[in-house]
Amino acid sequence: MRLWGRATAVRRKMLCLWLLLLGFALVTLELSDLFHSRHRDLSHQKPAPPRRPLQRVPNAPDLEVIVDSRDSPAVELGVDLAPIKTLQEDQLLFVPSGQGTKNPQQKKGSYKVLLPGANRDLRVPAPPTHGEMEKAHLEGMEEGMEEGVEKSAVQKYGFNEMVSEKMSLHRRLPEKNHPQCLGGQYSESLPSTSVVICFHNEAWSTLLRTVHSVLDTAPKQHLQEVLLVDDLSQHGHLKSVLSEYVSHLDKVRLIRSTKRLGVGGCRNLGAARAAGEVLVFMDSHCECQKGWLEPLLERVAQDRTRVVSPIMDVIDWQTFQYNATQWPVRGVFDWRLDFYWESKPQLQDKDPDSAVRPVQSPALGGGVLAVDRHFFQSVGAYDPGMLLWGSEQIELSIRVWSCGGTMEVVPCSRVAHVDHHHLPYPLPDQELLQRNKIRIADTWMDAYRKIFYRRDTLAHFIRQSESPNITERLRIKRSLGCRNFHWYLTSVYPQLYIPQDRPTLSGELYNVGTGSCADYPRGLGLRGGAMNAAPCSGTGSQHCDLNSEFEVRWGPMGALCLDASGERVILSPCPTHRPTISRLQWKFIKLSGQLVHQQSQLCLEVVKDGGLTQSSPRDVNTHAKTGGLFLRPCSHHPRQQWHFEQLVAPKGA
Ligand SMILES: *[C@@H]1O[C@H](CO)[C@@H](O)[C@H](O)[C@H]1NC(C)=O
Ligand SMILES: *[C@@H]1O[C@H](CO)[C@@H](O)[C@H](O)[C@H]1NC(C)=O
Repeated sequence: MRLWGRATAVRRKMLCLWLLLLGFALVTLELSDLFHSRHRDLSHQKPAPPRRPLQRVPNAPDLEVIVDSRDSPAVELGVDLAPIKTLQEDQLLFVPSGQGTKNPQQKKGSYKVLLPGANRDLRVPAPPTHGEMEKAHLEGMEEGMEEGVEKSAVQKYGFNEMVSEKMSLHRRLPEKNHPQCLGGQYSESLPSTSVVICFHNEAWSTLLRTVHSVLDTAPKQHLQEVLLVDDLSQHGHLKSVLSEYVSHLDKVRLIRSTKRLGVGGCRNLGAARAAGEVLVFMDSHCECQKGWLEPLLERVAQDRTRVVSPIMDVIDWQTFQYNATQWPVRGVFDWRLDFYWESKPQLQDKDPDSAVRPVQSPALGGGVLAVDRHFFQSVGAYDPGMLLWGSEQIELSIRVWSCGGTMEVVPCSRVAHVDHHHLPYPLPDQELLQRNKIRIADTWMDAYRKIFYRRDTLAHFIRQSESPNITERLRIKRSLGCRNFHWYLTSVYPQLYIPQDRPTLSGELYNVGTGSCADYPRGLGLRGGAMNAAPCSGTGSQHCDLNSEFEVRWGPMGALCLDASGERVILSPCPTHRPTISRLQWKFIKLSGQLVHQQSQLCLEVVKDGGLTQSSPRDVNTHAKTGGLFLRPCSHHPRQQWHFEQLVAPKGA
């Protein structure tokens, strides 16, 4: 009897609890609706059409992949890298984001909901639903909050996020387009566009500014959608708060990957889900100039094999100031397979129309890229074998050119990109970049790949012990009938110096007297500057090449020449014409090891402490310098004895 009574009491309590919960749920629903209607009223200046977040258009559901934290191990970058595979449908789990965000039950246990940061609530224009706040309160407080507060903004993102936070998400860039670009008339029938924005742990302000910038500048009739692709971010603000925010934006969809894909894989995923005729790949920290999209679309519409880029302007990582890039500019890469934008105002020809005429470009950076969707797929998308980040834009560039496409920079289109101070996360593996480059070298560079391996000895040694699996890429290359690298070098990129790398006349320039190598501080760039002697690096960074013109070519582009300024030995930009100028000619006497400057008949010598006063502070910091390089009357002193040390045996060269 007493037992029975106790059981009834328990049941009664349970009933009360259930009723309480039900009531709470109803109140929650009401509240969240309130929040949303208030948000709609506040955030849109002009009245927006009424929206019903609970009802989605059935045939165009927002795609969202739930990241199941129980399946993917707690990911510090790199731990989870090994299983990168080609994308498979079953790795993705889609739910309509409308339901997903409205029904917390559905997501329970799949990922944590965290508020972006204790002091950020005011900046997040779409308030999280009540339910999410609850969850954040319960789950986020202990673990999630520390992360955002502790690390300095610069360290965390590679740019000063504090400054970015204070700026409007709708800031308008100062007009920098050439006057002839303005008022350009574009056809109404331009193709539709999917803008694919991949992100991994991007800051809230920069990501959302990118999205709004596209929405604010791209003409509605040409913008099919903005596809946000989350490459397995861990930062709390990119989870449900972002889903919620995105569900209020027209034309924006969010896809989440359940695996870390890297830039190429992530963009491939976006491309596979895109519906627009033209794909625009855009980094997640960009701002678009007014009128940036139409000129790109026009060029692609005229020729579907054309891949185009806007002029990439620069947003300072510290101040977030906008800095326009000077035209003309084009994308290039060097023999270490590193990419650069090359801005050469002096190359501007006299023709006034050249200011608005697109220029062909041997390569394009990954910041913003527009390409016809079908052409992109047929030419092999991004190489899914590329890991994480690095050189995938060079691979795509060589492939596009070699397999029937072209690339160009369109001057009437400008998009600004936040220049990072550093990569905001440690590379999981120092060899990752090299592995990507090895794929390029072995797939595309034929015999020219030796030039790369000599300048990147780490890649060489990796390649000695393992082979990349490029079977699939070679199949694509064959089936598309792609041209060889010799064709690319002569037809597309004839400006790239082709080193001769003759045995005993190329390699590190080793000084017998000091046991050090001729060196040039990288930070001085392509303008040239004083040469030093420094410990031999063995990495290929000190590689030089005495060619048949008697120039000593330096650097991964081979664009700098050993030169003399008075008695100081310097590097200066090599002439582009032949024959070369006599001041740049050197003779190597193998027997004595002397390197003789032909014009002065003086010998190259390491002078201890020489030139220390002329060196830049940067130089002193990064180089344990042994001395400066000077011209001296020839003698048999060991400090005038040199030999070229080849680090990579010229096997079969
Ligand atoms: C803008 O560019 C100019 C020239 O390229 C450079 O001298 C200047 O420092 C840059 N300013 C900022 C804020 O980056
Ligand atoms: C290389 O990749 C292809 C698919 O791209 C696969 O069929 C093949 O088994 C792989 N080879 C090796 C040795 O892993």
